[in-house]
Amino acid sequence: MAISALWCLFFSLLTWGCPSGCAEESPAPHDVTGDAKKPVLLRDIAATTAFISAAEVAVIGFFQELERPEVSNFHIVVGKIQEIPFGLSTNPEVLSHYNITSNTISIFRMVDHKRQDLELTDGKKIDATKMSRFIQINELRMVTEYNPVTAIGLFNSTVQTHLLLFTDKTSQEHTERVRRYREAAELFRGKILFVLVDSNVKGNERVMSFFNLKKSQLPALAIFHTPDEEQDVLPLGEVTVEHVQDFCNGFFERKQRKEDPSPEEKTEL
Ligand SMILES: *[C@@H]1O[C@H](CO)[C@@H](O)[C@H](O)[C@H]1NC(C)=O
Ligand SMILES: *[C@@H]1O[C@H](CO)[C@@H](O)[C@H](O)[C@H]1NC(C)=O
Repeated sequence: MAISALWCLFFSLLTWGCPSGCAEESPAPHDVTGDAKKPVLLRDIAATTAFISAAEVAVIGFFQELERPEVSNFHIVVGKIQEIPFGLSTNPEVLSHYNITSNTISIFRMVDHKRQDLELTDGKKIDATKMSRFIQINELRMVTEYNPVTAIGLFNSTVQTHLLLFTDKTSQEHTERVRRYREAAELFRGKILFVLVDSNVKGNERVMSFFNLKKSQLPALAIFHTPDEEQDVLPLGEVTVEHVQDFCNGFFERKQRKEDPSPEEKTEL
């Protein structure tokens, strides 16, 4: 396998540009109307930690001063992205607790306990589109749907083993499959990022062929360890917690044996 083949694949996907529905839609109107979605005002540290721990992904705008263009841009983004809770804090105690030294948008993720910051320093001219893209890249969940934008965030995570479930989202079994897959994800939190790849999306055919998978073999699992590109593939009759668990544990055990052979295996060599 060519060096960093999967990486190259993802980067080539990236150079295709933005998939429909990601950050390149026309800019939102700048007149934020009265009934637009608003961020939750976080008045103290306790409210802020509670807000963060209540969601798989939460975004907070930490602002030292509110009369700034980036704050209006933040409000535009809050109005546009429905599926993520947004908070806002200007309390100096809260800002200092989170080590904020300039206006910053932070995304907090449950899946790898990671926080990513977008600092809104003067020179950078971060408009609403750039803010949305930052959020979409870093929006990793317990089960993250693969697309060229989330791929960037997935490969930037400190969790370097990724499990991909290739499945047809229009299948009647889809909901139940994802429910079980998610249940398995809880068991490997912090060790494996769980990814969903919809086999109906045209661009995803390339990810499928990277793992030599055909549509007729789906649903299927593929596991990938980014540093050494070790991988394994398993077509599944049925997605169950046990199948997923056995597949992942088997992968880790084989890897472990390679890295650290037991004394008997050493003497056999
Ligand atoms: C703030 O920085 C200190 C020192 O680097 C670190 O120990 C602490 O965990 C940070 N606080 C948060 C909430 O990340
Ligand atoms: C990747 O992660 C690093 C370190 O956490 C961060 O500084 C960088 O902004 C991230 N890159 C993207 C594209 O989000």
